[in-house]
Amino acid sequence: MTTRVIIVTGAARGIGLATTRLLLSEGACVVMVDYDAEELGSAAAELDNVLAITCDVSDPQQVESMVAQTEKQYKRIDGLINNAGVADFGPIEQTSFDRWRRVMATNLDGVFLCSQAVIPALKESQGSIVNIASISGLRASTLRTAYGTSKAAVIHLTKQQAAELGEFGIRANCVAPGPVRTKLAMAVHSQDIIDAYHDAIPLNRYGTEQEIAEAIVFLCSSKASFITGQVLAADGGFDSTGVGLPSLRV
Ligand SMILES: NC(=O)c1ccc[n+]([C@@H]2O[C@H](COP(=O)([O-])OP(=O)(O)OC[C@H]3O[C@@H](n4cnc5c(N)ncnc54)[C@H](O)[C@@H]3O)[C@@H](O)[C@H]2O)c1
Repeated sequence: MTTRVIIVTGAARGIGLATTRLLLSEGACVVMVDYDAEELGSAAAELDNVLAITCDVSDPQQVESMVAQTEKQYKRIDGLINNAGVADFGPIEQTSFDRWRRVMATNLDGVFLCSQAVIPALKESQGSIVNIASISGLRASTLRTAYGTSKAAVIHLTKQQAAELGEFGIRANCVAPGPVRTKLAMAVHSQDIIDAYHDAIPLNRYGTEQEIAEAIVFLCSSKASFITGQVLAADGGFDSTGVGLPSLRV
C-alpha cells in the first residue's frame, strides 16, 4: 500500500500537533508546517516520518516553496489540513485595519494559498482538503469581527473548493471546533468566558485537541470518500443549541 503524505499547517502545537500525531499513528507521513521555527523544530524532533518546514502560510512565495519541498521529498501529496490560525478578539471600533488584515492573512489567505498550491498534486492522488474553521464562523458573537468573519469565509471557501474540485476527485470539508484549551484559546479566554462556555455547551466542557483531531482525520481519510463540502462542528453541541437560553433549561 502507498503511504499517504499529508500536509498539516500550524503543526507545531495544539490541534495541529494532535492531528499530526494521529495521522502518524495511522501510518501516514506528515509534512509539519508552521511559522514558529523553534516550536516546530522541538515538536518535530520527537516524531518519526515527518518533514518539518518553516513557512508563513500567508506568504505566496513561502507556500509555493513549501509545496515544492514536499513534492521533492515525497513525490506525492494526499491531503492538506489547513489548520494554522490566529485569534484576535476586540470590539469592532478597536479592530484596526492592521489587526483585521493580520487575522485575514493567516486564517483566510493562508487557506486559499495552501489549497491552490496543492491542487495539481491532489488531482493526481485524488486527495482531500480539510479546513479548520470555528464555531465562531457558524455563530456570531461580540468581539469577533475579524476572527468570526475569517472563519465564516473559510466555511464558504470550503464549499467553493468542493463545488469546483469534485470533478477531479478532490474532496474539501471543514471542521468547526468548539473551545479547546490551546495557547490560542487561552490567550483570549478569561475565567469568565470559560465558565460561560461550560454553561452554554450541552456537554458542559471544553473539547480536547485529540477530539478535534479525530474529526479532522476522519474527513481527510477514505472513510469519508462520499463526503465533500460539509462542515462538521466538533463542539460538544454548542452550534446545535440555537436558542439555548439559561431560563429555558430543565
Ligand atoms: N483552540 C480553540 O478553542 C479553537 C476553537 C476553534 C477553532 N480553532 C482553530 O483551530 C486551529 C488551531 O488552533 P489551536 O487552538 O491549536 O492554536 P495554537 O495557537 O495552539 O496553534 C496554531 C499554530 O498555528 C501557527 N501559525 C499561526 N499563524 C501561522 C502562519 N501564518 N503560518 C504558519 N503557521 C502559523 C502557530 O505558530 C501555532 O503553532 C486554528 O485555525 C484555530 O482558529 C481553535
